Amino acid sequence: MPGMIPLIGEKFPRIEVDTSHGKKVLPDDYQGKWFVLFSHPADFTPVCTTEFYAFASRYEDFKKLNTELIGLSVDSTYSHIKWIEWIKEKLGKEVPFPIIADPVGQVSNKLGLLHAASATHTVRAVFIVDPQGVIRAILYYPAELGRNIDEILRMVKALQVSDKYKVAMPANWPNNELIGERVIVLPASTVQTAAERLKQYTCYDWWFCHKEIPKEEAEEARVFLERAAKKK
Ligand code: BEZ
Repeated sequence: MPGMIPLIGEKFPRIEVDTSHGKKVLPDDYQGKWFVLFSHPADFTPVCTTEFYAFASRYEDFKKLNTELIGLSVDSTYSHIKWIEWIKEKLGKEVPFPIIADPVGQVSNKLGLLHAASATHTVRAVFIVDPQGVIRAILYYPAELGRNIDEILRMVKALQVSDKYKVAMPANWPNNELIGERVIVLPASTVQTAAERLKQYTCYDWWFCHKEIPKEEAEEARVFLERAAKKK
């Protein structure tokens, strides 16, 4: 029986886990940091290996955003260790983050990661969790499609900028097709503020206003994301 899926805006459930780096308590051990928890169907599978290579290649970039990575699958710690040894030996890539071992699916069940398509293997899920332990984003990908790690990095960066300036981020920020690196002013909640928006900001309409954030902040984000995408 699949468990209830934790939702955006909820506190990440408190779970004690065994990982390739020892025991950890989520989200308590990551208090004050962001973390990206991602599940994969199984160790020693090709798409998952390409994802681990890609996550490991962006590890330092996530660190720069005060963000830790945590893997998870329904494999044993023994299997995780052998697989990351293989990745190091054959592909020359160190996997520096812990991987949760969940051989009986207890953690996966709690997080809603066992879906109908393959109830014995975790789907490719991503939880982005903030320094208060609150779930800020959830992604699901099917087994046959590897994730875009640059997008996950962009999501963390954009969420951090959203928090800092209390704004919403447009599609493809910082390279939006309509408003470039500008950001969206949060919706007006009264008739008065709706009218004020039109005087205060640049607007397509009272419900669609946008503004600049400091130029250097948007530029730093663009350079950071472009460099990370090129590194591989
Ligand atoms: C893979 O990682 O290659 C994979 C895993 C499960 C199903 C299909 C592909």
